[in-house]
Amino acid sequence: MEKVHFTEEKATMLATLYGRAVDARLDRPILGDHAAAEAVDKIDYDWRRFGMNTDAALSVAARAAALDAWTREFLDANPAATVLHLGCGMDTRVYRMDPPPAVRWFDVDYPETVELRERLYPARDGYRMIGSSVTDLGWLGEVPADWPALVVAEGLTMYLDPAKGRALLRALVERFPSGEMAFDVFSRASIATQKINTPVRRSGATLRWGLSGPAELEGLGLTVVDAVSAIDLAGPETIDRFSAAARWSLKVLSRIAFVRNMSHLVRCRF
Ligand SMILES: C[S@@+](CC[C@H](N)C(=O)[O-])C[C@H]1O[C@@H](n2cnc3c(N)ncnc32)[C@H](O)[C@@H]1O
Repeated sequence: MEKVHFTEEKATMLATLYGRAVDARLDRPILGDHAAAEAVDKIDYDWRRFGMNTDAALSVAARAAALDAWTREFLDANPAATVLHLGCGMDTRVYRMDPPPAVRWFDVDYPETVELRERLYPARDGYRMIGSSVTDLGWLGEVPADWPALVVAEGLTMYLDPAKGRALLRALVERFPSGEMAFDVFSRASIATQKINTPVRRSGATLRWGLSGPAELEGLGLTVVDAVSAIDLAGPETIDRFSAAARWSLKVLSRIAFVRNMSHLVRCRF
């Protein structure tokens, strides 16, 4: 068993890993990430502390599945591509996507995260991990700049200092000839009300970067081509997996503009 001592934003990746593991163990999972369930079994941790019930786990899985679908579309259209998976945590996206070795895939997170990944996950051709803060931009020099790039980041931007987050996105746009970015963003109201976000609060993490809305990204050299409210992530084909109470509250909340704006999954081109 692996002992882990992550705190603050690094601990949040254990909450999402656990969410995907809970989903994988359901009879009808949304994502079915069995590698996540195996990783959870190898980590000695009090998983109950995140208060991750089945509905919350399904929401984590729905977000991951949506980003997987966009990643798949990008790789199908760009067989020679560079993928930067930023704030990867313990996410097994590279194994779920199983890209051909021609794709250069980089997972980036803090060095402690990369060390745990190296202990638990296998190496593969075309795949590298970089242990660095994503906002210390020196790591970008390790990534070849010649191919179109997909930048995928799940549950990352809201933890970044806003000025550093904007500088990161601008640096990525400048470095590659073209590409896409797929990530989630929070509203300023989500940052202001972060104490109601149980996994974040229990991790001791602080949310910092909120946007007025996805359109704000256009000022950073990005063109927003999709913006899906987190409230809408469970589509008609998966909504019946949620409890009746969750379905009811999603239905009610989806009518409130302020709530719809709290979190979006965005796909941008540059
Ligand atoms: C909510 S977790 C999400 C992890 C993973 N994407 C997932 O969905 O399971 C947030 C992740 O962002 C990482 N993170 C936060 N700030 C970071 C930074 N400045 N540089 C690198 N990683 C960062 C944390 O270490 C953590 O792994």
